Amino acid sequence: MAEAMIQADGLVKIYKSKQTEVLALQGLDLTVETGELTALIGNSGSGKSTFLNMIGGLDKPSAGSLVVGGKNLFTISEKELVRYKRDTVGFVWQNNARNLLPYLSVLQNVMLPMRLSGSRKKRDRALELLEMVGMSSKKRSRLNMLSGGEQQRVAIAIALANSPQLLLADEPTGSVDAATSDYIFDLFAELNKNGQTILIVTHDVALSRRVRRVVAIRDGRISSEKLLKESYMDRIRESSVDWRTEDTQDEYVIMDRAGRIQIPKEMTGVLKEGGNKVKVELQDGKVILSSGKKEA
Ligand SMILES: Nc1ncnc2c1ncn2[C@@H]1O[C@H](COP(=O)(O)OP(=O)(O)OP(=O)(O)O)[C@@H](O)[C@H]1O
Ligand SMILES: [Mg+2]
Repeated sequence: MAEAMIQADGLVKIYKSKQTEVLALQGLDLTVETGELTALIGNSGSGKSTFLNMIGGLDKPSAGSLVVGGKNLFTISEKELVRYKRDTVGFVWQNNARNLLPYLSVLQNVMLPMRLSGSRKKRDRALELLEMVGMSSKKRSRLNMLSGGEQQRVAIAIALANSPQLLLADEPTGSVDAATSDYIFDLFAELNKNGQTILIVTHDVALSRRVRRVVAIRDGRISSEKLLKESYMDRIRESSVDWRTEDTQDEYVIMDRAGRIQIPKEMTGVLKEGGNKVKVELQDGKVILSSGKKEA
């Protein structure tokens, strides 16, 4: 079997300061296969950016294991890490000021991170990328003359400059309007169709309903997953589907390696009559949970 692009096992991240300790990731398990487009959702503070930053090599995990593109991020040397951040992963942030230099032209911005030798090659590759994100006509514009959505497209071109194995995006549509957000999603879908592995953090419901796999994170752990229904698989780019309201996905809870699952909050009430004891039975190949209350 081919190696997964991302393999996180029991990943823990603790932020320590003088007064406090924040447990941002609390034993997170996730496998992302090569070629997948995955969305990561979850409440504010649930650990999405923390996880993305670990994968991007921007911050060190505290415990557990994390292997990305065959690189173990616990044992990686400083020198390898520099190469990893440049060549293995590409990063798009919500706030594209982190990606872009305002006083340079679009073309210069895209050429800047490139590792190709020869300015001719760099130029050709940059033009190809700008074509791909629909920004060729603005290649001479200065960054500060572009709209937010246009800047985000340039940011995507930059993230792809060194053909990373994995593209990471933290709320890439967080500060653009709905039409631009659709355009950016289409771009990700197109890149993914051409084999690019992508992990996107998003709050955008419509966007997440168009992704084959959506992973929900709660309190620093993966709590549930949604998978696109078979009948919607080939319709991801169709605008005739109302992605905001149609029920396009099936939802699953996640069982960890020890066999633990988290029961959705709205269902725990039924089970609580027996205190904290829950009866687990196997019937006709199905596992049935019921309250552990003694029958009268
Ligand atoms: N550098 C840091 N130092 C201390 N605590 C941090 C740091 N970064 C994040 N945290 C804390 O870790 C937890 C997870 O934060 P994180 O930014 O990963 O959440 P998030 O899911 O990305 O939220 P949002 O949707 O608001 O972007 C939060 O409690 C946050 O306050
Ligand atoms: Mg965040």
